[in-house]
Amino acid sequence: MIDQRLLPVEEIWREYDDYRDIAEAIRTMVVRGAPAIGVAAAFGAAFGARDIEAESFENFCRKMENVCAVLAETRPTAVNLFWALERIKLFVKTHSELPLADLKEKLLQLALEMAAEDEKINRAMGAWGEPLIPENARVLTHCNAGALATAGYGTALGVIRSAAKAGKTVRVFADETRPWLQGARLTAWELQQDGIPVTLICDNMAGFLMSRGEIDCVIVGADRIAANGDVANKIGTYTLAVLCKEHQLPFYVAAPLSTIDFSLADGSAIPIEERGAEEVILHGGKRLAPDGIEVRNPAFDITPARLVTAIISEHGVVRGDYLSGLADLRQKGRTHDS
Ligand code: MRU
Repeated sequence: MIDQRLLPVEEIWREYDDYRDIAEAIRTMVVRGAPAIGVAAAFGAAFGARDIEAESFENFCRKMENVCAVLAETRPTAVNLFWALERIKLFVKTHSELPLADLKEKLLQLALEMAAEDEKINRAMGAWGEPLIPENARVLTHCNAGALATAGYGTALGVIRSAAKAGKTVRVFADETRPWLQGARLTAWELQQDGIPVTLICDNMAGFLMSRGEIDCVIVGADRIAANGDVANKIGTYTLAVLCKEHQLPFYVAAPLSTIDFSLADGSAIPIEERGAEEVILHGGKRLAPDGIEVRNPAFDITPARLVTAIISEHGVVRGDYLSGLADLRQKGRTHDS
């Protein structure tokens, strides 16, 4: 994994071989972004399985539960993490006939497949979303929903990449995304590498640019989408959606089916990660605020479905009635997989 804590100053790749180290890498945000966390957890579970010593399938399953619990405790909001672990556990449960050595090998193959699948899904999302981006578009994005946040290509940035590939002139406005600065450090870096024009702005500049007619649409990724279309994404996303409504701009969300949590009726039950005060108080090790100040640091917010113009997935674009639209998508996903 490329160490995302150090970008763009240093490009350091790290190798992992133990599920506990992968759990720590997710927790400390060496790897971040919902689909990337899911794929990393799948590899963690496969490595954990490989190292289990068990005399029976039942004993293997019990130990596997522990491995998955360690990975599940790392970050609470992105549902892709739990989706990936459930997929691994289901594979184990439905392959009790296999000798354990074969099962372990197949779990590693499954993790590799999940990584390859994720990139394919992002490219499909790009193809569905590309027509929504107009020629000469000035597109604002928040956080990093690019190749770094996935196994490759990206969700929101995947749509932008596809628009650029289709020959459209696109300029991206990247919100810096305080406090972790995913936009400044990662989105700006990724797009620069790709040669897609990008302008970095502070989060509080979006409204002004919109009021001056300098933004045509907003596109973001998601960490979890409830069955009714409420969207959990990086803190500050909700503010952008409200601004879009005021300025009559489209607000798009690009996310794979694995980000939709059909078990939650709406966004109110989505767990929101609260991170440490130091992320808000310190910058590059330097204190920005008075000593002892009280701080809140919710890492995500919920954008109500009514503010979302469309959700772009690998199986199509949904608008309006998200409850039935997302359920239809799930059906398409099942048909596609079978
Ligand atoms: O805290 P992070 O950096 O893991 O949060 C990431 C985001 O909020 C992304 O927008 C989201 O995961 C979509 S990534 C394709």
